[in-house]
Formats: sequence, structure tokens, C-alpha cells
Amino acid sequence: MKKSIHIYQKIDIFKKKSITVPGDKSLSIRFILLSSLSNGKCTGINILRSDDVLSAIKCIRKLGIKIYLKNQKCEVFGKGLNGYKFSKNLILDAGNSGTTARLLCAILINSPQTIKIIGDKSLKKRDMNRIIKPLKKFGIRLISKNGKLPIRIKGVMNPKPIVFKENLGSAQCKSAVMIAGLKTDGITKLQCLPSRNHTELMFKNVLKVPIKIKTSNNYDIIELNGQKEFSSFNYIIPGDISSAAFFLVLTLLSKKKTLMVKSVNINPSRIGIIKILNLMGAKIKFFNKKIYKGEFKADIYIESQKNLKAINLDPKMNSSAIDEFLLIFLVASRCKGISTFKKLSELNKKESKRLDWGLKILKMMGVKTKKIKSDGIKIWGKPNLTLNKDFTIKNFLKDHRIFMTATIAALTLGGNWRIHDPESYKTSFPSFLEELKMLGAKIR
Ligand code: S3P
Repeated sequence: MKKSIHIYQKIDIFKKKSITVPGDKSLSIRFILLSSLSNGKCTGINILRSDDVLSAIKCIRKLGIKIYLKNQKCEVFGKGLNGYKFSKNLILDAGNSGTTARLLCAILINSPQTIKIIGDKSLKKRDMNRIIKPLKKFGIRLISKNGKLPIRIKGVMNPKPIVFKENLGSAQCKSAVMIAGLKTDGITKLQCLPSRNHTELMFKNVLKVPIKIKTSNNYDIIELNGQKEFSSFNYIIPGDISSAAFFLVLTLLSKKKTLMVKSVNINPSRIGIIKILNLMGAKIKFFNKKIYKGEFKADIYIESQKNLKAINLDPKMNSSAIDEFLLIFLVASRCKGISTFKKLSELNKKESKRLDWGLKILKMMGVKTKKIKSDGIKIWGKPNLTLNKDFTIKNFLKDHRIFMTATIAALTLGGNWRIHDPESYKTSFPSFLEELKMLGAKIR
């Protein structure tokens, strides 16, 4: 594996009019975890074969579940809600995947053995208290130093349902409580700030577990009835909007180009990036809209845009674009005017400190920025921004989204870029560089 990639010119022409992106990461991981609790053989189509999903598969296999993976097809032989084999001294490695680590803790609440969950150097820095606190309420033992990995879990035979208020707007936290709730004999009640709702949709439309969901402007209320076994199921995973976002921004910031990204998940809780780019002056359109088991998908069409305008983003939109902010900051650097983003403390709790990285990259590019309070950023856009200096991006924690955002900056703004840790993008989008090269990007 090379130490870095080298980009020395902007993308010139697009050799293709449309592309497809791999399956959604959140849905792929949820498919693996939830199918392992079903009764029988589940087939997942268009599964994402990225490092994060492979980590989830390895962990579930270690719990005695057979999983076969062939190209993008995945077969999981579920053994029911209480069917795992819990062996002694088991260690489960979630790699770089926060979703895997946090949801695994929940799925283990009935383990009679102590199980240790570990992760890579980035995951070891991330906050696990957000799931430790609610999961302990189910009556289980969770031991960790400073609320970080490694975590040791010892479950109980009959976990008790809980009532919990989630106030971070974290889908992983909400989903952990919901999955743990599945294993209890009773009603688990949750009040949570809005975040991606894939788990709710899967529970309701795929597993068909008894669940009530009330959504209001400020928070959602979820009530689910546990210990209800469910049948095996098949699931077709749509393209990942968080991967599509790199190509949308590539097209938007290039000159006179158009692109259709086909068959992408456009769940309303995930399309913040589309709404924000449109507020900045993009004219993104959906075609061929379909609904499948509660999830929307569509082909997304975008054109390059010369005149982009700054925005003052309503923080209520943050959660629906939470993984796309590095790209949004990049677009803001080309907008006319000063853009403002607030209440983004969660960004510094991702695979690396992404708010700080956003400030750092824009500063390197000569764009004026200011941190507001500890959780916001102001960006003074330059509509004619082009770069011609040398840039080196080394991110010690190998954050996939930093690598991919820097690549898009290089291909749209110019300059001579060396971007380190090219293996990082395999976390979420293993065909990223290949897809860019097929589209016409020159990358060495
Ligand atoms: C995810 C939820 C988000 C997101 C992450 C995937 C999920 O995190 O950043 O990449 O699959 O539930 P939050 O827990 O902060 O919502």
C-alpha cells in the first residue's frame, strides 16, 4: 500500500454521465446485526464491503453466527434473540467502527460471559459513556476506563426494559437502546433528539416488532415491545448518500459538468447535504424516486454552479448532515459571503476532531475562518478561490472522510497535493479512488 496519493491537477472532463456508489454503511451494519437475531437465513443485497462492515461481520461470526459473503451479497443465518454462542474470554474487535462498537454493546446485554470490546486507535479515543449510561440501566455490568474502549460487558439472563431520554441527537445511542430493548421482556421507552431513523424503519417495516413512533419538531418518542422473536428477511441496501456527497461536491465545484448518482438512499433524516447545498445555490434534483421498506431512494442529479452563496445554517439541520460537514465547509470556502455553522460539538467526537480539521484545512488553503465558541465556525468564502501551492495532508487517526474531502479539494480547487493514509477510505468507500479515476481524475 502506498504511503500517499499525489494530485497535481483539477479534474478536466467527466468521462461518464452517471455513477453508482456502494451500499449505505449504516444500513449494512444494521442488516448484519439485526439479521443475526432473526430466525433463519437472511439475504442482504448490495451490502457495503468496507472495513467497518467487515468488522461488524467478524464480530457477529465470533458469536456463533454463520455469515457468507459473496461479492455484494451477504447471507446471515440468524439464531433468534437468544441464540448467540457466548464463549469465555471472547474479544470482539470493532476496528474503526463506532456504530459496530456501540451497537455490539447493546446486542450483548444477555451474555452470561464477560466479553471485551476493543477498537483501533481512533475508536479508542471516542466517547462510550453515551451508551454505557443507558445500557447499565438494563441491569448489566459494563466496565471501562474513562468511558472509552476497551469495554468489558457481562449481561444478565433477563434484562429489564428502561425509560431513557437521549439528548445528544445520536443515532448510535438511540439504536443501542432500541436493540437492547429488543432483548427485554417489556416496553422500552425512549425520548430522543432527531437523528437518522434507519433502526426505527427496520424495526417497523422489516422485523415487524411492535413499535410506536411519535415524531415532533423537537424530539421523537419511541416505545418498543421486547422479547418478540422475528422471522428471517431479505433486504436490498441502497447507495450511501454520505459516499455520493463526495461526487456531488466534485461536480458542484468543477466547471460546466453534470452528474447523475444513481440509486441513493434519500431518507429525509440523511439529506441535510442536499438541502444545504441547495441553500448555497446548487440545483440538485431527485429522479426515479422509490420507497422500499420505509426507506426512500432516488437518482440524484447535479450541475456545476459558479455563483454559490454563503449561509447561516440552522443547527436543527446539523444531525441530517453530520457526516458531511467537511465537504460543506469546503463548499462554503467558495461561496460569496460569510457562512456560519453552530452547535457542532459532535463533529469533534467523530473518527477524528473534524471541526478542528475543517478549520485547519481551510486555513491551509488561505481561507479566512474563525472558531465561534467551542463548537462553531465562520467561513469567509472566496468565489474565485483557486490554489497553486503544495499541500500535505497527514491525519494521524486515518479519518476516511478527511482523506476523501482533501481529494475533492485537490480535484476542484487545484494545487499540488500529497494526501497520506490512502487505506483510510476503505473504512466507508472502498472503490472511491477507482471511481474517481474512471470519471477522469488524474491521481498518482
Ligand atoms: C451512524 C450515526 C451517526 C454517524 C455515523 C453512523 C449510524 O453518528 O455519524 O457515521 O449508523 O447510526 P451519531 O451516533 O452521532 O448519530
